[in-house]
Amino acid sequence: EQAGKGEYDHFMLKEINEQPTSLAQAIEGRIDPVNGRIALSDFEPGTFDDVDSVQFVACGTSYHAALYGSLALNQAGVHSTALLANEYSVSAPPVDENTLVIAVTQSGETADTLSALKQAAAEGARTLTVTNVVGSTAARAADDTLFIRAGPEIGVAATKTFSSQAVMLTLLGQRIADDVQGEPPADLETLLPELESMPSTIDQLLEYSNAASIAEQYSESRSYFFIGRGLGFPVALEGALKFKEITYEHAEGFASGELKHGPLALVTPETPVFAIFTGQEDEKTLKNAEEAQTRGAPVVAVCPDGHPAVEVADEHLTIPDTDSDLAGLVANVQLQLVSYYAADLLGRPIDKPRNLAKSVTVE
Ligand code: G6P
Repeated sequence: EQAGKGEYDHFMLKEINEQPTSLAQAIEGRIDPVNGRIALSDFEPGTFDDVDSVQFVACGTSYHAALYGSLALNQAGVHSTALLANEYSVSAPPVDENTLVIAVTQSGETADTLSALKQAAAEGARTLTVTNVVGSTAARAADDTLFIRAGPEIGVAATKTFSSQAVMLTLLGQRIADDVQGEPPADLETLLPELESMPSTIDQLLEYSNAASIAEQYSESRSYFFIGRGLGFPVALEGALKFKEITYEHAEGFASGELKHGPLALVTPETPVFAIFTGQEDEKTLKNAEEAQTRGAPVVAVCPDGHPAVEVADEHLTIPDTDSDLAGLVANVQLQLVSYYAADLLGRPIDKPRNLAKSVTVE
């Protein structure tokens, strides 16, 4: 097992550091536009012409990637929603042959996600699986598949697969919007070069990350909060999930604007607030973070250098400047590192947290 970890103490840290490579694999040959339209040659031209709405189904970290993809698709003008696969049997919105149901699952074997996929198909929806595992049950069960090509992930806590899911769902969303609307989404020209440079953007971040010192500084805290807006919201949820999975400490993710609607009651000097800035109404998120700061909570801003939040926050986790569609997934890499180092300081069994399994094959 040690051999598989190479120079790293844990698979999780190895997999975090593999992200420049896994992202390069994900996008290879998939980005170049053809005649100004999004190629994503996994799908024939016009594949999504008849789609009028999209439902994502997923669990755990894949649900956060699905939410990321769904919000991006809404922002590109296509009606979309992300649903927890384990809630689908009791609360699925109606589907028809123009509904595309996209299962997002790293393993392709999660029982809850397979059930939702099966139900959607039985009710007449079109289905597509976004997965890491070729030949998995979910890949075989859907009408179409999109492989994220992240390579094997051993750590129970998903890291590199989240980033690859987020990148591929961003690209897929643009392609769906292009097919549905008959023209590429407005921000495509700025987005594609940023997508293409994602491997080097993440590489850069890994070089200078100060996540270890932030983790150490706040290691005695009582609870950890993560806030974000727009595409920062799923990242706040994922930041908190990762943190609780491997540190066993209490962590919660909120939409920035929700903080004042309840969670603020929990805020004290012992509850650091990680605020994620993605360039979407950042001034509002900054105000929300300041509301927590006024109550004594230390604020850690996750944003590029020179961002107004840096002046206000107590600490700063810096991220390279990138398109607002991608800033959240870049910020998430810093949060993965914070969780990792916090768990390491606490001596937790990082790759195999208690009570959790890599893939849950029961409902
Ligand atoms: C388990 C894992 C999570 C994962 C979830 C969904 O709960 O511990 O890390 O996000 O399953 O797995 P999937 O393979 O469907 O992405």
